[in-house]
Amino acid sequence: MLTPTIEQALNEQVNAELYSAYLYLAMAAYFSDRDLEGFSHWMNMQSQEELGHALKFYAFINERGGKNTLKAIEAPPSSWDSPTSVFEAVLEHEQKVTAMINNLVDLAIAEKDHATNIFLQWFVTEQVEEEASVNAVLQKLKLLGKDGGGLFMIDRELAGRASACPCSQPTA
Ligand code: FEO
Repeated sequence: MLTPTIEQALNEQVNAELYSAYLYLAMAAYFSDRDLEGFSHWMNMQSQEELGHALKFYAFINERGGKNTLKAIEAPPSSWDSPTSVFEAVLEHEQKVTAMINNLVDLAIAEKDHATNIFLQWFVTEQVEEEASVNAVLQKLKLLGKDGGGLFMIDRELAGRASACPCSQPTA
């Protein structure tokens, strides 16, 4: 059984992961509008990964005999100043999610919920990977400055991001 505190915190994380999926889908739409289909594909894959994260938390709550209580998902922004500012926003968002995961681990330890603590370790590792992959794209964009040709090359590279789940197909 989950304690009410852990149950509520895990439910909040389901909402946060769904918001992440929604945010990255909004970013995919932003790139698609600018004919940067490789960037858009990358964001679509990121969005699907986040949906996968939400479903992992959802399934874990069920498995532990908890109750899933779905709340409203906040509307994400729909425009950014530039591709660089999009990736700055992604990095900032992922750092926020990392802090949330770390807080959940602290809570699981405080509540002596070892199963939840072990479950969360996958997310601790995943956040390291996510921040690194976002930062890698951001650094390339910063090096590039206003070089349009370079942007096209990054777009082609991002089009090759593999699907995170069998339900998705590359769009570029
Ligand atoms: Fe599910 Fe990108 O954190």
